Amino acid sequence: MKVGLIGCGGMGTTHNLSLKALSSTMNVEVTALADCRPEFLKKAAEQWPDAKLYETGMELLKHEKLDSVHICLPSYLHTEHAVAAMNKGIQVFVEKPVCLTEEEAEKLLEAKARNQVQVMVGQVVRSFSEYRYLKESYDTGRYGELKSITMQRISGDAAWGYEDWFHQEEESGSVVLDLHVHDLDFLRYMLGEPDSFDVRATAFASGMVNQIFTTYEFGKVFAVTEGIWDTSSALPFEASFHACFEEASIVFKGRNEKPLAVYKNDGTVEYPELVREYDVQDDSAGINISNLGPYYTEIKYFIQCLQEGREIDLAPLEEGIKSVRQGLAEWKRAKEYIGRK
Ligand SMILES: NC(=O)c1ccc[n+]([C@@H]2O[C@H](COP(=O)([O-])OP(=O)(O)OC[C@H]3O[C@@H](n4cnc5c(N)ncnc54)[C@H](O)[C@@H]3O)[C@@H](O)[C@H]2O)c1
Repeated sequence: MKVGLIGCGGMGTTHNLSLKALSSTMNVEVTALADCRPEFLKKAAEQWPDAKLYETGMELLKHEKLDSVHICLPSYLHTEHAVAAMNKGIQVFVEKPVCLTEEEAEKLLEAKARNQVQVMVGQVVRSFSEYRYLKESYDTGRYGELKSITMQRISGDAAWGYEDWFHQEEESGSVVLDLHVHDLDFLRYMLGEPDSFDVRATAFASGMVNQIFTTYEFGKVFAVTEGIWDTSSALPFEASFHACFEEASIVFKGRNEKPLAVYKNDGTVEYPELVREYDVQDDSAGINISNLGPYYTEIKYFIQCLQEGREIDLAPLEEGIKSVRQGLAEWKRAKEYIGRK
């Protein structure tokens, strides 16, 4: 299978390393790479010395015949490239947030319907083993009914982006669409659409939302989330959740030595054995991601779906778009809240 990779920065490096690892057991090869920064392109090409190299993603799409393409560009460039790929009949893996506006969402849905291609969105939390354990516990009723859940996603300021795109709200969608979208997407995945939600937020001195607190009601389940880009880039990244079921609480703290624990009503504590098909730490992407495992898992799933002719149902385009729409509604409320203060 011939694969293209567009964008070889932080996330592109994570995809590149995962694709390289997968190529040892699957029929997959990166045959074309694009990045407008020569040093990043050169580094990515070390994994694939025979790949064709391009300065821009659009040039790559114009000249290459590919089975699939991974779009790891700044978020404001996703739609243009995904639509161009679809128009050439190329299957698409695009990073989250899949797009930033309702107009872009419409363009993506129209291009997918017209070209009959598969599109997967990098809502990677759906592939984290700890979050899968949580969803499985919810689905099976292993610990009784879920009563409430709190989720946090805390990050230092995103200082690594190309031309500082994270700090331009129309390019990143602020912390809401860039970071918090992971937790809201997972809540939607597990619990469906919220019946109601309420938002509080704070902003950087520039006015861009950098912290969002959202409370949701999903039927009887109450959920609270916090997503923050701290004002300091030094703050270490941590994702966590605390899910209170009738018979136990499942607690995940990403930086703990044993990140996932189950505190049972009888006073015992269990540390579930999780399946990790690829447990490799690699900091070479230079961003807040070091465990390649969940990325390997989601990309493997995408390739398997394409090779076996299966429909993508883990995080298809339509799901990525529903999460963006919920994020847009929360972002609007966040701005209104900040404006009232
Ligand atoms: N799933 C996750 O956990 C996760 C984590 C971080 C980032 N992301 C997402 O991944 C995407 C990329 O983020 P990042 O952190 O890698 O950003 P980045 O700035 O590190 O990388 C983007 C790369 O695209 C290149 N580029 C820009 N315009 C280009 C063009 N027209 N053609 C070719 N190359 C071009 C830049 O040179 C840069 O190397 C974003 O959508 C972001 O939200 C997802």
